[in-house]
This record gives sequence, C-alpha cells and structure tokens, in this order.
Amino acid sequence: MKVITSPVEIQTVAQDFRAKQLTIGLVPTMGFFHNGHVALMKEAGRRADKVIVSLFVNPLQFGPSEDFDTYPHAFEKDCQIAEDAGVDILYTPNKKDMYSEEFATTIQVKGLTSGLCGGDRPGHFDGVTTVVGKLFNQTLPHIAVFGEKDFQQLAVIRQFVRDLDFPISIIGYPIVREANGLAMSSRNSYLKKDEMDAALCLSTAIRYAKNLVRKQQNIAVSDIEKKVADTLLKHSECTIDYIQIVHQNTLQNCTQISSDSILLIAVKINNRIRLIDNSKLTGG
Ligand code: PAJ
Repeated sequence: MKVITSPVEIQTVAQDFRAKQLTIGLVPTMGFFHNGHVALMKEAGRRADKVIVSLFVNPLQFGPSEDFDTYPHAFEKDCQIAEDAGVDILYTPNKKDMYSEEFATTIQVKGLTSGLCGGDRPGHFDGVTTVVGKLFNQTLPHIAVFGEKDFQQLAVIRQFVRDLDFPISIIGYPIVREANGLAMSSRNSYLKKDEMDAALCLSTAIRYAKNLVRKQQNIAVSDIEKKVADTLLKHSECTIDYIQIVHQNTLQNCTQISSDSILLIAVKINNRIRLIDNSKLTGG
C-alpha cells in the first residue's frame, strides 16, 4: 500500500490508473478505523480495480464547540488496517493543501440538509459536500462507497453528485455493528465503561420500534416516536437530539409506516458524546 499526501500526486496516479483502463473505488474517511470502515474498503475492492482510501479530518464539517481538536487518531494502526483490507493507496492530505488561505468555495445542498443532523449541526453538511467534492476531483473515482450509518450524509452526497453531474456511482453500505448491537463509530472510543449501557439504548430502541411495527402494522408514526423516546429516556445519561421517521429518499416525515420508512435517532450521552443510528422499520 502506498501513502500519498499531495493532491497533485494523487491526481496524477489516478489519471495513470484511468489511462490503463483500471477502475478506481474511493472510500472517504476521517480515520481511526473500525470494522465499518474495513467493510467499506473491501466493498470498494470488490467493485473496482484500485482502492483509494482518503484519511482527512475535515475542519470544515466541525462546529466551533465540536471535537475537531480531539478527534481520535492512530495513524500507524490505520495504515496496517487499510493494508490488510487490500487498499492500494491511503491518501492523507494536509489541511494547508486542502484549504489554502484563498479558499472561498462551498458546495451546498439545500433541503435535505436543513433538518435532522443539519438542524443540530449548522454548516456541517456544507463541510462534508465541499470536502467530498474536492476528494472526488483529486482521486477521480468511478465509484465511491459510503456507510448507511450516516444516512443523511449518504442522501446529501447522492443529491450533489446528481445535481453536479459527477460521473461517479455512489454505493451505500449497511451499518456494521458490534456483537451487542452498537453501531460502530470512531466516536465510540469516547465512551467510558459505565456509559456503554446508555450507548446501547439506540440499537435497543430501534429493535423495539421494529417489533412494534411487526406486531401492529397500522401503528401511528407519533406513537412509535413517543415510545422510542420513552425507551431512550430511561437512561439518565441520555438526551435526545432527534427521533424521526422519514422517507428514505426525501428525508421528509412519514405520515404512515411503509417499506421506505426509516427511523433516524441522534442522542447525546452525558452531553459529551453524540451518537446516531438508524434502521428501516419493515423487513429484515
Ligand atoms: P467517517 O466518520 O470516518 O466515516 C467514513 C465512512 O465510514 C462514512 O461513509 C461512514 O458512513 C462510514 N461508516 C462509519 N461507521 C460505519 C458503520 N458502523 N457501518 C458502516 N459504515 C460506517 O463520514 C465521514 O467520516 C466524513 O463525513 C467524510 C465522508 C469522510 C467527509 O469528511
């Protein structure tokens, strides 16, 4: 596996791959890899000849009171994990090369970004789409793989790729979970031992909501949301950012449950650690 830091060099390498008719799969990340990231890397490997993983903690997508300065990192370990996952190139640009002092452009998707995480984290998705647009132009991928764990992020990226005619197939990959149900996340490393029970409340609440729907097909959306809130609030460490049941493509609130309804949850544990999770409510 090769490590590249220069945007000019990665673009040259990507152009070389393309000249040789090799397809490129990109997995954008912020590092501190877990098995969710690894699954995305392997999926890219199944779908493309060459896999590029970007590792860049993107300042643009963090709010002023968020964890940019303390975001976890373990570069040597990440290199080993990526190499073992069959990654060809780990691309780790530095902040100065990504955002020069004159940098003045934002990619902004309207509508889809206004609620849910966009409501709680103003400007967050502008930061995500701007950096992902740059990474696309630097690595010239044919496909790019993103996790359904960040469901709204995936919807927003699909929209901007369509709107701006990027010739890239966006692949969504299902949430990878710990054996106990907790959705894997780099931010899980912030959880202290005694906060683990509270963190599990998201996946427990999701299983509970799916059971409710299985037992009572016509159950009202507001009933499910209320019951899920009650389950979450049994844990005193837990405050709710949002619980919403939305259509999977538009992210608009559902009026009744159907096969495209998705439950999205964001909570804070002890006002310190923000966790998200989601699931379809029917099937599987
Ligand atoms: P990061 O949080 O590092 O996640 C990188 C990719 O891994 C994202 O597509 C995310 O959805 C996916 N992922 C994270 N946890 C997962 C899990 N448990 N199962 C499946 N996939 C999972 O998301 C970002 O970085 C950034 O916003 C980024 C897109 C890189 C832009 O900076």
